[in-house]
Amino acid sequence: MWPTRGCDWKRRKAAMNLSTAASLFLIVLFCEEVQSKWNVNCNSQNICALKGSTVRMHCDYSHPYRQDGTTISVKQTFWFTKTDKDPLDLNTQEEYAGRVENSCISEDCTLTIRDVKESDSAAYKFRFVTNKSGGSYTGPKVVLSVRDSNPNLTVKKKNYYNLECSSSCVLPDDSTYVWYKNGQNIHIGKYFSKTWASNTDSISCALKGHEDFPSPSFCIRNYYCEQVTYSHGRICALKGSSVSFNSSYISSYSTTSFWFSPERSTEWNDISQPEDLKLDSKYLGRVRVTNIKQKSTLTINNLMENDSAEYRFIFKKYSLSWGSDLHGTTLTVTGLQVEVTRISANQDSPYAELKCHSRCTPAGYNYRWFRNGQDIRHNKSTYIVLINTTDKISCALSSFKELRAPEVYAPVSTSVSADFTDDIVEGNQVFLKCSSNANPPANYTWYKKTQSSTVQLHGKDSEVYLHEIQTSDSGKYFCVANNQLGESISEYLNIDVKYAPKRADVSLSHVEIVEGDSVHLTCSSDGNPTPSYSWYKDNQEMLQGQGGMYQFTSVTSEDSGTYCCEVGNIYGRMNSSSVLINVEYPPRLPSVSVNPPGDVAAGSSVNLSCTSVANPAATYTWYKEHSTSPAADGQTFTIVDIRGEHGGNYYCQARNSRGNHNSTVHLIVVSSSASSAVAGLITILLLIGLFLSAFIIFRKKKVVRQIHQSREGAEDNETKRLGNLGRHMGSSSTAGLGNSVDQGDVCYASVLFSKNQEESLYSNFVPAEPKTSQNEEKEEDVEYSAIMIKNTPFKKSYDASEESSALYSTVCKVNRL
Ligand SMILES: *[C@@H]1O[C@H](CO)[C@@H](O)[C@H](O)[C@H]1NC(C)=O
Ligand SMILES: *[C@@H]1O[C@H](CO)[C@@H](O)[C@H](O)[C@H]1NC(C)=O
Ligand SMILES: *[C@@H]1O[C@H](CO)[C@@H](O)[C@H](O)[C@H]1NC(C)=O
Ligand SMILES: *[C@@H]1O[C@H](CO)[C@@H](O)[C@H](O)[C@H]1NC(C)=O
Ligand SMILES: *[C@@H]1O[C@H](CO)[C@@H](O)[C@H](O)[C@H]1NC(C)=O
Ligand SMILES: *[C@@H]1O[C@H](CO)[C@@H](O)[C@H](O)[C@H]1NC(C)=O
Ligand SMILES: *[C@@H]1O[C@H](CO)[C@@H](O)[C@H](O)[C@H]1NC(C)=O
Ligand SMILES: *[C@@H]1O[C@H](CO)[C@@H](O)[C@H](O)[C@H]1NC(C)=O
Ligand SMILES: *[C@@H]1O[C@H](CO)[C@@H](O)[C@H](O)[C@H]1NC(C)=O
Ligand SMILES: *[C@@H]1O[C@H](CO)[C@@H](O)[C@H](O)[C@H]1NC(C)=O
Repeated sequence: MWPTRGCDWKRRKAAMNLSTAASLFLIVLFCEEVQSKWNVNCNSQNICALKGSTVRMHCDYSHPYRQDGTTISVKQTFWFTKTDKDPLDLNTQEEYAGRVENSCISEDCTLTIRDVKESDSAAYKFRFVTNKSGGSYTGPKVVLSVRDSNPNLTVKKKNYYNLECSSSCVLPDDSTYVWYKNGQNIHIGKYFSKTWASNTDSISCALKGHEDFPSPSFCIRNYYCEQVTYSHGRICALKGSSVSFNSSYISSYSTTSFWFSPERSTEWNDISQPEDLKLDSKYLGRVRVTNIKQKSTLTINNLMENDSAEYRFIFKKYSLSWGSDLHGTTLTVTGLQVEVTRISANQDSPYAELKCHSRCTPAGYNYRWFRNGQDIRHNKSTYIVLINTTDKISCALSSFKELRAPEVYAPVSTSVSADFTDDIVEGNQVFLKCSSNANPPANYTWYKKTQSSTVQLHGKDSEVYLHEIQTSDSGKYFCVANNQLGESISEYLNIDVKYAPKRADVSLSHVEIVEGDSVHLTCSSDGNPTPSYSWYKDNQEMLQGQGGMYQFTSVTSEDSGTYCCEVGNIYGRMNSSSVLINVEYPPRLPSVSVNPPGDVAAGSSVNLSCTSVANPAATYTWYKEHSTSPAADGQTFTIVDIRGEHGGNYYCQARNSRGNHNSTVHLIVVSSSASSAVAGLITILLLIGLFLSAFIIFRKKKVVRQIHQSREGAEDNETKRLGNLGRHMGSSSTAGLGNSVDQGDVCYASVLFSKNQEESLYSNFVPAEPKTSQNEEKEEDVEYSAIMIKNTPFKKSYDASEESSALYSTVCKVNRL
């Protein structure tokens, strides 16, 4: 048979065993002549493996080693499952990284896959590639199916003494087994020794970790033993329906038997003593057990999801109690569910593909679909429907029409709720929650609508958390709930964030304010609620003006000042910056004064002053009547060395940018020249007076001399003195007063010249004091008469020098020795 397989090395080695030179020669010849075929052989076609196992696949290959005169050699061998144009080496596949290995010994290749996964279930192929163009060859497929449960065990005799647990599947290398004797767990290990059991015992095994799939019982004595077998390892049932589990047991003369569920062990009196399910309050009235011909059936009605559990059967007889460890039937109760599996992209006629299913849909059933409660006579598990957002769709198994899946529908009753009841103040935190009624459950999107825009908020949660709420967060919030079948929009939830005023600005209606203007101050501010306003002038609250505007219909100078407004609401108050109102006005009527007051004597100087209130401050200009050019600038106009022509009306003009105002003053200059004739007359009178005085004195002296002549001429000194008197009077003219020649009898006379009787008159009559020395001459200079001259309209100015000469004369009479 080997020649047909070609001349591969293995065969040649086998042939060498014949060990004769002749045969060797023959073989070489034979090999030269008989070409091997392109071929791949694999040792299995289907491999079952339990998850986590290490799976090996073997293939050997052959090819002609010479063709068309050239030698053919193998360049590459590999395994693949996928072909993407060219087969893809498993070693290059990411999902197998680190888990696969291809090793070849000569033309025998083995693929090893460690730790297999359910996703490794596939058809594997081996391929070798030669250096001949087109010289590659692919083997048959090897189907690997990886399962995560049911290792499909059987108990077998390993040898005379031991039993082994055998599987039709590849099991993990480190597998160990749980061994049961009559339903009782008695050993964990690779093998079971027959010595642990008697001839009547029933043995079964389970893969550790997969105890829910034990092997069928194995009777040690081969033909008869007690045993319990279950019709199903797992059963799936619909919520609300009924289920029956069957167990057959081979037992004669059993005294008691019952079903129990290990999940209910917490309810038992003794955790090691299972209790009959019929007595469990949870199942009360819902379970029924029928035992007919060594077949026990447990029926549970009105299934609830929490009935999902494992159920076991045990019995007792006089010699044996069937153990409670062996796994029974696992029940899964599920509800039906409509799943939206696909949505057509077409917006105009949106179709949805619905699938009716459950976690473990019992096969072989027909379905029923219901639209808004009406049976629409559709019996497939999938249903393609034109989406109508008002529709509610459900399904059921046709045998259990009343056990319907919850209806699917587009969201309805979408609403927004928030965790606040009072006002929201800046800085608060706020939770918003969107809820709606929808199946499948809705996704949520949040929006905030303000006057100008609608913006979507970040996140897709049903809840929005506004951590430290800002005024900018104010707005109308709403959410949109949507699932595959439609969407629904909530009402608005208005969030009006309250806050204290943050700014206050006061502004003036215009800048340059003139008396009489209509002026208003405007206070602008923010704050929620809208703040109230009060106004301050120079830090004093003003009574009126509560609004944001303060109005002066006609502003006056008294309104000048610094203004600010205070704004506030219940959350706080603040003052604005201040603004200055400066009311400008033209000069008021100037008040003018003459200093010194009264008539002005010619030759003196006078100040004319002008004062006016004005804003801005006035400038002053003095004009003389009938003169167009200003006489002087400035508030005070000083006229020095006044002469007659200076008299007259002067007016002062006070002026600023807003206007001017005049005030007049009349200046009267009085002078002596007008009454020089009178002065001359007075002088004559004075001279006459003087002469008369001198005459009287002379007469008196004559009498005295006559008396003294008898005293022998001692009078010479007296005579000298009289002569001196005359000299003295001439020399002391500047002093205005004659020296008292004689300290004895002194006579002074001051003559006052007054033009106006109303004016105060001054005259000093200074009594002469006894003089003891000549150096007191100067003191006597200050003894004078002051004469006030008052201007009166009827007088003309007169010369001051003339005046002085006319003012006074002094007459002295010396009568002391
Ligand atoms: C294939 O490889 C062998 C040995 O490496 C060589 O002798 C032969 O010529 C090659 N054949 C072709 C077709 O390249
Ligand atoms: C279980 O094993 C038996 C024999 O070993 C085989 O006939 C049967 O098909 C297997 N069942 C499964 C589900 O693999
Ligand atoms: C159990 O047995 C009863 C009666 O033989 C049968 O009607 C029922 O379908 C069986 N249940 C299962 C789950 O096989
Ligand atoms: C099982 O679920 C039902 C409703 O589904 C409930 O009334 C009952 O209390 C549950 N029982 C247990 C034991 O949890
Ligand atoms: C399902 O419905 C179709 C048409 O309504 C009908 O022809 C078919 O027989 C039904 N299938 C079953 C299993 O009832
Ligand atoms: C949706 O269903 C309602 C009532 O079932 C019907 O009036 C309406 O026309 C339907 N709309 C569409 C788009 O089919
Ligand atoms: C809802 O959100 C989830 C997760 O973001 C997404 O996978 C799903 O497609 C969304 N459903 C709809 C109807 O938008
Ligand atoms: C605003 O100014 C007025 C006057 O100075 C003062 O009485 C008042 O307390 C101030 N208000 C605030 C909020 O500071
Ligand atoms: C006039 O004003 C000047 C300057 O102010 C001052 O020096 C002078 O004394 C004043 N004259 C009189 C008469 O008041
Ligand atoms: C003041 O006098 C000046 C000069 O004569 C004159 O132009 C002006 O109109 C007068 N002003 C007033 C308010 O009388």
